[in-house]
Amino acid sequence: MGTLAGKGAVVTGGSRGIGRAIVRRLAADGAAVVFSYLHDEAAAKAVAGEVTGAGGRALAVQSDQGSLDDLRRLTGEAGEYLDGLDIVVINAAGGLPGLISDVTEDDYDRFMAVHAKGPFFLIQHAGRVLRDGGRIVAISTLNTRLHPPGGALYTGAKGALEHYTKVAALEFGGRGITANIVSPGATDTELLRAANPGATFDDEVARTALGRLGQPEDIAAVVAFLAGPDSGWISGQNLPADGGLMP
Ligand SMILES: NC(=O)c1ccc[n+]([C@@H]2O[C@H](COP(=O)([O-])OP(=O)(O)OC[C@H]3O[C@@H](n4cnc5c(N)ncnc54)[C@H](OP(=O)(O)O)[C@@H]3O)[C@@H](O)[C@H]2O)c1
Repeated sequence: MGTLAGKGAVVTGGSRGIGRAIVRRLAADGAAVVFSYLHDEAAAKAVAGEVTGAGGRALAVQSDQGSLDDLRRLTGEAGEYLDGLDIVVINAAGGLPGLISDVTEDDYDRFMAVHAKGPFFLIQHAGRVLRDGGRIVAISTLNTRLHPPGGALYTGAKGALEHYTKVAALEFGGRGITANIVSPGATDTELLRAANPGATFDDEVARTALGRLGQPEDIAAVVAFLAGPDSGWISGQNLPADGGLMP
């Protein structure tokens, strides 16, 4: 019996990268998982099929994290597919925000809708629907501490997500619900490569105690711990998952 047997989970952005590793890991630990994707239906169906083939349960739902209607559809489908909701992982992210001088009002509104507004209302939903002892895990980034040029919208939105999560820990803690943040360092995914075209990442690897780039499975292991029974006394925390990245 896995540590998450009998649990129901929602994960946003599960078709690729870190989210896919989280879906696989939660399902391997015994949870039934409903996960969202934005465009890549084939990749999402492949993840759901792979999990089901391995004896788990996973359902892929097209749902834009920047649309509250889509998020209502995601949580509605989760309500039907799962026997109850125990775990919400807010992972989806996408889009390259750019330098402050280049950001338009539309860029700003869209970026904040996906990375701050949608997550806020998912946290609100989690507070209403999670069973007692439930878990909220928000995926942020080390960049809220390192602040790269071109990262104003990204770090601003992720900073908001971190604060929403910490307040949720206080507001929902009376029911044994924990809310925590995982902040990955450089992790080898399409998002990392798209944001740093042509980069070798030698500098990041050189500054990482464990001497390599993170893999999605490294982050999924931390999420599985925070989603599981052994993390019940940890709440409102922001856990770096970066292999010991030195600033
Ligand atoms: N990779 C890193 O180095 C790194 C470092 C720090 C933090 N993070 C954080 O880790 C999380 C995952 O990043 P990743 O590197 O795994 O990204 P990724 O490989 O680009 O995967 C992004 C996932 O999110 C989905 N997605 C994108 N926009 C969405 C939207 N509006 N609504 C719903 N789903 C959407 C994508 O779906 P489609 O397949 O349909 O496009 C895909 O499943 C993000 O929160 C990111 O900020 C990553």
